[in-house]
Amino acid sequence: MNKPETNHKGGDALAECYQSVRRYSLAITAQLSVEDCQLQAMPDVSPCKWHLAHTTWFFETFLLSIHCKNYQVFDPQFKVLFNSYYNGIGAQFKRSNRGSLSRPSLKDVLTYRAYVDKAVLQLLSTHNDDVIEQIITLGLNHEQQHQELMLMDIKYNFSVNPTFPKYKAIDIPISNNNNLIKPANFIDFDQAIVNIGTSDQTQFAYDNEQPKHQVLIHSFRFANRLVTNGEYLAFINAGGYNNPQYWLSDGWAHSKNQGLSKPLYWHYIDGKWFEFTHYGLQPLNFNAPVCHVSYFEATAYANFVDARLPTEFEWEYVAKAHNVIKPSQNQLMPGQCEGDEKITQLTDACWQWTNSAYLPYPGFKPIEGVAGEYNGKFMNNQMVLRGGCVFTPKNHLRTTYRNFYYPHQAWMCSGIRLARDKV
Ligand code: AVJ
Ligand code: FE
Repeated sequence: MNKPETNHKGGDALAECYQSVRRYSLAITAQLSVEDCQLQAMPDVSPCKWHLAHTTWFFETFLLSIHCKNYQVFDPQFKVLFNSYYNGIGAQFKRSNRGSLSRPSLKDVLTYRAYVDKAVLQLLSTHNDDVIEQIITLGLNHEQQHQELMLMDIKYNFSVNPTFPKYKAIDIPISNNNNLIKPANFIDFDQAIVNIGTSDQTQFAYDNEQPKHQVLIHSFRFANRLVTNGEYLAFINAGGYNNPQYWLSDGWAHSKNQGLSKPLYWHYIDGKWFEFTHYGLQPLNFNAPVCHVSYFEATAYANFVDARLPTEFEWEYVAKAHNVIKPSQNQLMPGQCEGDEKITQLTDACWQWTNSAYLPYPGFKPIEGVAGEYNGKFMNNQMVLRGGCVFTPKNHLRTTYRNFYYPHQAWMCSGIRLARDKV
């Protein structure tokens, strides 16, 4: 049971969801050491200790402090330390320095979690109403986003260690080339006026997925699967990283600046390709989807094969037509290609970069109050990713779900779905 997405489930069911989601955060960090939980290997990632505290702070700030009479905050200093970006709440400790907070200790943060859990469950058992349910549902979806972020951040934090630590122990190499691979092909879609987004108030959705509105989509072609490591390697071997003709101007500048020549976690050692994973360094699986590429790399690859990225509207149209949103497998490696659906790997392997800028839908309204800073204020200079990935918790996704990152970022599980104009 891990279903925070639905509203109006009643106190007991919601309490069960609450406990199950909160427990999963602890499960993610259970095998980590105190030192592991403290790491912040680059400014974009946060220490797991910080994630555990921030998700707790979210319930304390947006639920308990407002709706729980006589609630005493656990520690008044956490208001600054674990506020991520809410200016309406007040000042924030500097994001890039989160790894330098040795206090509170991990142990204190776990005590903080237990303290807040007790208060939330207490409140839910005595004062269950729609407003409280809505805030808890938001808080649980928020925590699920941070669960994915923890898995991304652990991977990055471990990746900078030349001993290639394993987050998950495993005896046999799991990357191999024996898994099935569908031949790449493109499926045709006709021009249509389609519904995008949702206005259904009975199912949880973030404000950025609302309201439902119509979009004209021109006829297009949509790839049946994601671009593989093997296909991406052909781009590298053809000199793709040294040929500006494939690259956006900002992408070329970024790639030259950073000296990029391959996806984030690839290594070329003694004539063989490897990839850093949650299972340590593994031989690169040429049939698995290429993962951890930036928008810049995704567009360069698409140009290389005379294709383009889909728009977020094309993606949603295909996903709704194929009724494909299944709970993710929740494994820790990108999904293997299997099944006989015409279009695969929509939600279970890697997020897919779209060529749509992250912008408000017509009629967009941020949720009321300070939590209105949650999504809306990030609607500039970022690109939308659609789908879901192996790190995304079960039941967190919808066909209307919009993820978003800056075009140079690559530490999330981001892959490449190709599209073409139909001529
Ligand atoms: C949607 C993944 C870009 O990481 O800031 C976490 C998720 N929002 N807390 C982010 C999020 C608030 C968000 N992303
Ligand atoms: Fe957050």
